[in-house]
Amino acid sequence: MHKSDVLILGGGVAGLSTAIRLAELRPDIQITILTKSAKEESNTRWAQGGIAAVWNNETDNYEKHIADTLDAGDGLCNEEIVRIVIEEGPIRVQEIIDWGARFDKEEDGSYDLGIEGGHSTHRILHYKDITGWEIQRALIKKAASFSNITTLEHFFALDIMTQHHLGRNLTRLTPDIACYGAYALNKQTKEIEEFLAKTTVLCTGGAGQIYRATTNPMIATGDGMAMAYRAKCRLANMEFVQFHPTALFNPAGENPDFLISEAVRGFGGILKTNEGEEFMHKYDERLSLAPRDIVARAIDNEIKTRGVDHVSLDCRHLDQNEFIEHFPNIYEKCKSIGIDIFKDMIPVLPACHYMCGGILTDAMGRTSISRLFAAGECTNSGLHGANRLASNSLLEGFVFGYRSANAIAEEIDTYSIQENIPHWNAKGTTEPKEMVLITQSWKELKEIMSNYVGIVRTNVRLKRAMDRLFLLYQETEALYTTSKISPQLSELRNLITIAYLVTSAAQMRRESRGLHYNTDYPNQFDYQDTTFL
Ligand code: SIN
Repeated sequence: MHKSDVLILGGGVAGLSTAIRLAELRPDIQITILTKSAKEESNTRWAQGGIAAVWNNETDNYEKHIADTLDAGDGLCNEEIVRIVIEEGPIRVQEIIDWGARFDKEEDGSYDLGIEGGHSTHRILHYKDITGWEIQRALIKKAASFSNITTLEHFFALDIMTQHHLGRNLTRLTPDIACYGAYALNKQTKEIEEFLAKTTVLCTGGAGQIYRATTNPMIATGDGMAMAYRAKCRLANMEFVQFHPTALFNPAGENPDFLISEAVRGFGGILKTNEGEEFMHKYDERLSLAPRDIVARAIDNEIKTRGVDHVSLDCRHLDQNEFIEHFPNIYEKCKSIGIDIFKDMIPVLPACHYMCGGILTDAMGRTSISRLFAAGECTNSGLHGANRLASNSLLEGFVFGYRSANAIAEEIDTYSIQENIPHWNAKGTTEPKEMVLITQSWKELKEIMSNYVGIVRTNVRLKRAMDRLFLLYQETEALYTTSKISPQLSELRNLITIAYLVTSAAQMRRESRGLHYNTDYPNQFDYQDTTFL
């Protein structure tokens, strides 16, 4: 059994920000971070565009950023949370700069601020087209400077511990559920180990891998959200799945799909039909820089009505040197599959990119389970509402990591380690004989979600998805109770849970709003709550 004061599951921006702030505030406590892969791998690392923050006070202010966030969120943002994140954001960004993160600058030394869909002004700090990688690098370095932070790599968290593990029957309405740590599979030894903690923080990122096309890495399997749901924690807004309008269409197929950052459109790239006609004027006066839900739906419509695989992003008119300077990886990636972006248009299509819903938290990252906090993409903090504004997610990770740490530092002395948690019971399980069953079910799941719970939904499609998901659920649960735990099987199980939550929330919402578009209910209603209570 491992014991620590604080257990953090996930080592991206939210997890590392929580750990660093806690280590600063409380050098007397022990903080353990578990990452399911190498510590450099996280959803954060894959962020291309950047981090939105009010930086140039001559052209921008908090009210503008708040208005853009609320507008994108289509009536479902929590305004108090939006204000907190946007007003605290620049301080958090300055901190990461002080810790060594680099952002691109103009010749005069000021920061080169980009613009993306839904932003009314330039406010996105970025490091070339690999901002997430740079932020992850700086955070890992900073975290390593604290002796009370221990990072354990290749530990796959299976379940959080609650009174359920002490034999008590819990429901989502049980008022006093508490979290005592987590069970995790050591991927090297294949043993399941117990991590007891006074407080646990879920920073496990998103779940893009429920779809066939996704910009999310293979690790984005919704583990934290699924664990929280199994532990009877509250989740909300799961129907709001953000599709990024422009993933690279690669005929060879790849997982994840390569992202063509929205910053490319901010830089002047124009969406066109494959015949070279601009089409966004039919959908929104902001053209290629309209909010993501609008652009993704427009592209989906063009693809379906024209019977093609993709549309095109035209960058042929842009300054070649400047483009390569800003987007070296995008340029190289396109070149590697035979696209010269100064001669050819880039073939693009929407791909699942971000979960706007998740574990319900308050303004300090507290969940409905005591001693359990959550931050980052796995949460529904109230910032994104029905549609996240581009480049607001790294900001949320920083702000909520910091705020969760502040709350934990104050509360932690009131908790003690729960000693009598039983070991994981693996009696009667055997090695899975056919891994193909797991990989095949994962493929089926992706097909179901992509075909029936994608950008445009209908009641019939949602019902069909639910029926097929139920079969997959039954088969996978049967496998789970008889098989030795493997990361693949656990990930499949988590993905099925997330797919169920997305589909079920989509069925609950009888309107079209933000990222949720159901042709059976094309209009908006005043308010619909899709919290899993
Ligand atoms: C992008 O670079 O287009 C992604 C930015 C984001 O998702 O916030």
